[in-house]
Amino acid sequence: MNQYFATVAKGLEPLLVEELESLGAHDVEPGFCGAAFKGDRALLYKVNLWARLPFRVLKRLDEFDCEIGDDLFKGVQRTDWSEYITPDHTLAVSASGKTDELNHTHFTSLQVKNAIVHQQTEMFGERSNVDKDNPDLRVNVHLQYDRATISLDSSGDSLHKRGYRPAMGAAPLKESLASALIQMSGWQPDQAFFDPLCGSGTLPLEAGLRSLQVAPGLFRERFGFESWLDYDDALWEQMLKEAEDCQEEDLRAFVGGCDRDPNVLIQANSNATKCGIEHLVKFSQSELADVEAPTDSGILMCNPPYGERLGKDTDLGAFYKLLGDVLKQRFKGWTAYVLSGNKALSSNIGLKSASRAPVYNGSILCQLMKYELY
Ligand SMILES: C[S@@+](CC[C@H](N)C(=O)[O-])C[C@H]1O[C@@H](n2cnc3c(N)ncnc32)[C@H](O)[C@@H]1O
Repeated sequence: MNQYFATVAKGLEPLLVEELESLGAHDVEPGFCGAAFKGDRALLYKVNLWARLPFRVLKRLDEFDCEIGDDLFKGVQRTDWSEYITPDHTLAVSASGKTDELNHTHFTSLQVKNAIVHQQTEMFGERSNVDKDNPDLRVNVHLQYDRATISLDSSGDSLHKRGYRPAMGAAPLKESLASALIQMSGWQPDQAFFDPLCGSGTLPLEAGLRSLQVAPGLFRERFGFESWLDYDDALWEQMLKEAEDCQEEDLRAFVGGCDRDPNVLIQANSNATKCGIEHLVKFSQSELADVEAPTDSGILMCNPPYGERLGKDTDLGAFYKLLGDVLKQRFKGWTAYVLSGNKALSSNIGLKSASRAPVYNGSILCQLMKYELY
């Protein structure tokens, strides 16, 4: 069995463990911003195709003591790189972490790249070119506690880029975070799902895709492992076919959202079309003050503007009060979840939260507040 590490946004490690176990991963262990697990090549493909939370999945090749550049160069050369890359394949190296001496990720990644191409030149008399944007092989080096871990990045572009969202609102949630929030809420496909501030539609679209059992990786053009030397095309094609065959045709309950901005709604509809669910997930234009509940009960979820990314707005306090009033008066029987990065603003909602969970939206520490609306 191979040793893998899936990376995830800080704080989502326990949810990732649940997700990896549900996909059949073995020996899943939470780590910092990720989880280690074991499995075969089929599991690697499956996690890339089906996992809704991680950014990327790394396949571990080697781990060794490493304090200085020379340790790193020698350690990288312990691997026979001809098993993974030929000189006519392109290469990129990304680095994270540090030691006292190796504290510039740019230098660390250069050192790893130099060690690999030096070995190639000795072996073949020629070497791989570097392609930072679209390499055939992406190598990852992680330094921590004077140890180096060398891995291959099987995902390529971050997995949160599902491929269905060419168009984005002003402050869109990452697709993986939207999906994590939905998982945290415990929403089930037989419950209505509604976002009254939906922007480019990320939350309703992720709920819709979950409900329809659409694999989140189906819209991506490419995964890193597709240009690996051991790429199993037949296995991958079979997995894609199985994913297409198991999709549901219809939603079991209302899923949709609204926003006051007609331009972001054009984006939401375009994103829905890209996923092929524009006839199922409903978007409409409405001011928050005019929003009505689409059904008697369900899960409402939104991330209102909180000043960090949509610009300072002196009326945001009044906006949060309006949100609280709308929830209280029009959504009786619903459970609401509001993600906010500003505690002072959140208090303007004026409702008692049933729970609060810390969640990072990028580098911003937010709270996911839950309100039971009676
Ligand atoms: C932070 S964005 C939501 C982003 C969304 N979750 C996404 O992934 O694209 C907040 C949204 O609230 C909308 N909004 C702000 N004030 C509003 C109001 N008074 N009524 C309705 N929508 C409003 C904005 O147009 C914006 O799209």
